[in-house]
Amino acid sequence: MKLSLISAFGMSNFTMFIKPPLFRNLHQSVCSSVKSPPPPLAYIKPRMPLFLRPSTHMVAMLDLCKWYEWAKSLASSVGTTFEDVDNGPDSSLLRRELKWLVDDVTEDRAVSLLMHSEKCDRNVGIRVSLDELYKLWKERIEERRPFQYIVGCEHWRDLVLCVQEGVLIPRPETEQIVDLVADVVSDNEGLREGLWVDLGTGSGAIAIGVGMMLESLGRAIATDLSPLALSVAAFNVQRYGLQDVVELRQGSWFEPLKDLEGKVAGIVSNPPYIPSDNISGLQAEVGRHEPRIALDGGVNGMDDLLRLCKGAGSMLKSGGFFAFETNGEQQCKHLVEYMETDAGDCFCNVNIVPDFAGIQRFVTGFRK
Ligand SMILES: C[S@@+](CC[C@H](N)C(=O)[O-])C[C@H]1O[C@@H](n2cnc3c(N)ncnc32)[C@H](O)[C@@H]1O
Repeated sequence: MKLSLISAFGMSNFTMFIKPPLFRNLHQSVCSSVKSPPPPLAYIKPRMPLFLRPSTHMVAMLDLCKWYEWAKSLASSVGTTFEDVDNGPDSSLLRRELKWLVDDVTEDRAVSLLMHSEKCDRNVGIRVSLDELYKLWKERIEERRPFQYIVGCEHWRDLVLCVQEGVLIPRPETEQIVDLVADVVSDNEGLREGLWVDLGTGSGAIAIGVGMMLESLGRAIATDLSPLALSVAAFNVQRYGLQDVVELRQGSWFEPLKDLEGKVAGIVSNPPYIPSDNISGLQAEVGRHEPRIALDGGVNGMDDLLRLCKGAGSMLKSGGFFAFETNGEQQCKHLVEYMETDAGDCFCNVNIVPDFAGIQRFVTGFRK
């Protein structure tokens, strides 16, 4: 988690190094009827993840150790309570998270080792104040604030993606979408050099994974309805130096892509797919803290998936590929049925692909 931006960009204001072309259409809804040049784009400044902040707070090791012992006992007091209530984390996972928090908050790797030794007589630099550390760990345990929002990032494939409230934390099962794309481009130059679209990009995870895999041969466009998600995605795109490969556009599903009808090589998406009634029963970290706009797929969770299927036919070029993530078997079956019978004979080789846990997760196929 020590992948550092600081050396490349310093701690300069993020808005200074984000380039406007990355954000086409961010202002579209407010200036679509205006003929003169659009006003300056209103970026939302993403929050800097802990591991990228400078260690500006000097604290006595003894006080840091005291905090650590307090935090550990708070984690231990949870036992299996959260797990019993909503399948949340148990105390052993929380204690592991605590160690990761120490890694992120200290610059010097030796600190976490020293905390377990008797050598508590020195001062160390940390990236937030001790008061803030107490507050963060209380939020983790008492409010069930997700660990990834506390540290401001998530490890996903070989990436460390910045996340914050308002942006979905990318999940491990979604990593497979990039592998599905890798499979289809491996023996198909037209797809490898084509234009890929990640709809509902969130932190930019899929678009960045696909963009890196295309190795500058193809291009990707990442869209989202949420300006905050797009700001965070732009930050992540920039961190991985992909600003010439991944373009960001704001709007609902296919709406910001009208200029690309029939030209797209591939569409990938992990849309909201949780049935509305199930949201209240989700693990507290998810239901209370992750954005509803990223989760809620309507009455049976299929609203957005069906929208994507309906639009894919006119967006994809002949031979183009799609991969959509779903909630599981029922949604997969429903989508396959739609693609094979209701979609006007547009698609072929429509398949259900299981995730690594064996759950039927993805629907893939090609435009005829
Ligand atoms: C399940 S999240 C997936 C985020 C990201 N692709 C990932 O896998 O981590 C769904 C995303 O769709 C976006 N979204 C919701 N409604 C949308 C819409 N009408 N048009 C475009 N994006 C939308 C949400 O803001 C959210 O970022």
